[in-house]
Amino acid sequence: MSRELWSSRTGFILAAAGSAVGLGNIWKFPYLAGKFGGGAFLLAYLILVFTIVKVVMLSEIAIGRAANKNAVGAFASLHNRRWKIVGYMGVVACFMVLSFYSVVAGWTIYYTVEMVSGSLSGLQPDALTGKFEEFIADPSLPVIYHGIFMLMVIAIVIRGIKGGIEKVSTLLMPALFIIIIALILRGFMLDGAMKGLEFYLVPDWSQLGDFDLWSAALGQAFFSLSLGMGTMLTYGSYLDKKENLPNTSFQVAFIDTAVAFLAGLLVFPAVFSFGFDNTAGPGLTFIILPAVFNQMFGGQLFGILFFILLFFAALTSAISILEVMTSYWSEEKGVCRKKSAVIFGLLTFFMGVACSYSLGIWADVTLSSILGINIDLEVFNLGVFDFLDYVSSNILLPLGGLLILIFAGWIKPKRIMDEITNNGKVDFYWKNAFIIMTKYISPIAIGYLLLNSIGII
Ligand code: TRP
Repeated sequence: MSRELWSSRTGFILAAAGSAVGLGNIWKFPYLAGKFGGGAFLLAYLILVFTIVKVVMLSEIAIGRAANKNAVGAFASLHNRRWKIVGYMGVVACFMVLSFYSVVAGWTIYYTVEMVSGSLSGLQPDALTGKFEEFIADPSLPVIYHGIFMLMVIAIVIRGIKGGIEKVSTLLMPALFIIIIALILRGFMLDGAMKGLEFYLVPDWSQLGDFDLWSAALGQAFFSLSLGMGTMLTYGSYLDKKENLPNTSFQVAFIDTAVAFLAGLLVFPAVFSFGFDNTAGPGLTFIILPAVFNQMFGGQLFGILFFILLFFAALTSAISILEVMTSYWSEEKGVCRKKSAVIFGLLTFFMGVACSYSLGIWADVTLSSILGINIDLEVFNLGVFDFLDYVSSNILLPLGGLLILIFAGWIKPKRIMDEITNNGKVDFYWKNAFIIMTKYISPIAIGYLLLNSIGII
């Protein structure tokens, strides 16, 4: 059976950027930056993305295109069956990520509805915080929105890559960009905005010695660029053989990083202006932005547009995650696309319900409590939502990335280099740097930070 391809290079860039740009940029990046001291986190993040993580991106896309297969099949067809484990790990990580991702995506629908109804307008920051906390802890409302979101993701994935994914991305990405710029300009005019900018842009150098900051920045880089679990591999497999991989992958990384950077510019001036706590955590974007909209002329309209676009950004990302699971099952096991998308979608939905409950009625359920033991390690004491987030971003994705680098740098270096250079036809000016990074520097750095995340160092 011949596989579909993207209709053009721009089609791939938009779809890959659509996968990369999502809640990771606008919801997760600002709250992590807030938690880890602002400027220092931003700097660590930028350094990691443009050195260590960039070569993972190029390697992963090249593996996908070389094999022209899904995440599991790719490793088997390029080398041997044992390497399938990397693909399986990716499928498991996808399941974990999508289950909490879809819950947060459901929040964007709820906030769109609330903006339309006007029920947030005029509320003071404290009241907005209360409203957010009450909503996420509710046993039914967030689950309903999460379910609606999952249904949409399943419906689009069933239609396949061109009909579904490409079209959605093409229109909405540029729109999101424009509205973020407009909101940033308004945020700059708030009283005390400068303090927020300073927090976000001027690093406190002493914090760069904190390994937890670097581990968090690394996990976030993998999460935001959709790396380490087969998303870019699967999308790369639908890419035409003529395309220039180094340029294409750089453009995707650049767009993604630009949006994350802008999200920080949007959030921090307001955080400081309204006197919020910058370490507020996952609610940061959802609480701060309605406060900004309340201060703006036409704020309600901007608010509606913003949450709709954030919803679409989450949708294009979620599609790419379900696509990894679906393409694996349908290509490797011959299950039809529709059945595969529906079953994985449902499994993810149920896990997501547990994630949502862990923010309310199941707040006390942790590994420690389930096993009935008391262990002082962070992973043992997280609720379902935070547990899945931590294990996937800080452990599984970097581990997947590490194995991808070993594959590209040590197992099949020639095959991957031929793929990157289109058999010598593309002029790959940082070829030597790529080889050194892929073989030595990136795997060592990632391995080191991984050991830190697991708690060994
Ligand atoms: N990158 C997306 C975001 O920032 C989420 C995402 C899509 C993802 N595919 C992924 C995260 C693969 C990890 C791995 O919102």
